[in-house]
Amino acid sequence: MRKKIVAGNWKMNTTKPDGVELAKAVAAGASKVPAGVGLIVAPPFTHLCAVGKALAGSGVELSAQNCADHEKGAYTGEVSVDMLKAVGCQWTILGHSERRQYYGETDEKLVEKVRLALAGGLGVILCVGENLEEREAGKHFDVCSAQVKNVLYNFTAEDMKKVVIAYEPVWAIGTGKTATAEQAEEIHAHIRKVLADKFGAEVADDTTILYGGSCKPSNAKELFAQPDIDGGLIGGAALKADDFIQIALSF
Ligand code: PGA
Repeated sequence: MRKKIVAGNWKMNTTKPDGVELAKAVAAGASKVPAGVGLIVAPPFTHLCAVGKALAGSGVELSAQNCADHEKGAYTGEVSVDMLKAVGCQWTILGHSERRQYYGETDEKLVEKVRLALAGGLGVILCVGENLEEREAGKHFDVCSAQVKNVLYNFTAEDMKKVVIAYEPVWAIGTGKTATAEQAEEIHAHIRKVLADKFGAEVADDTTILYGGSCKPSNAKELFAQPDIDGGLIGGAALKADDFIQIALSF
């Protein structure tokens, strides 16, 4: 049985004190969430350590929002997998559309990042998703399968045990426009098929696929009721602990 997960991507929001307060509120709310639902928060790098401490004992796991594509060395401004592990991270988000769009993150770079993250013992939340132009041109299935193949087809079935996929249509991120449950479900099912083609049905069945893009308490239930939607990667609504916990109670 694949795991249900609700992950909060805080992006470049909160200062350290705000982040610690938010994490404490999430940790307190986590006791209401059934054991079968994994909770993850991804604060900015600067407060990973403090947020990790605030989450201690709550079962809520800690994620980075990105990691470097090199192990160590002269890469000014970058943060390595080892550094993330040393402050208690269990996960990293990779390939978020904001990283692809604003920071030139390519599938080739992502292969390297995923490789380093998995080798260093981090779980990976790999984001894929089409932009508005691609959706309007009817290319959404192809764009998502290409992103999945370009990155994940370089890995093994064993590696896939540590990989979660987040389908995040770019036109739905931070826009208030959510994909309908049907639009999200058809892409999730498609991604699962792309996984099955390479890794077999069992791996495809066991891989958690999250939906992201204006997911909130009012629409989470309908989205999570879909057979191939295993939870959410939450941006804006993850900045309010009550909303985040409410979303995690929507299965
Ligand atoms: P949003 O962001 O929930 O604010 O749309 C989701 C994401 O980018 O992960």
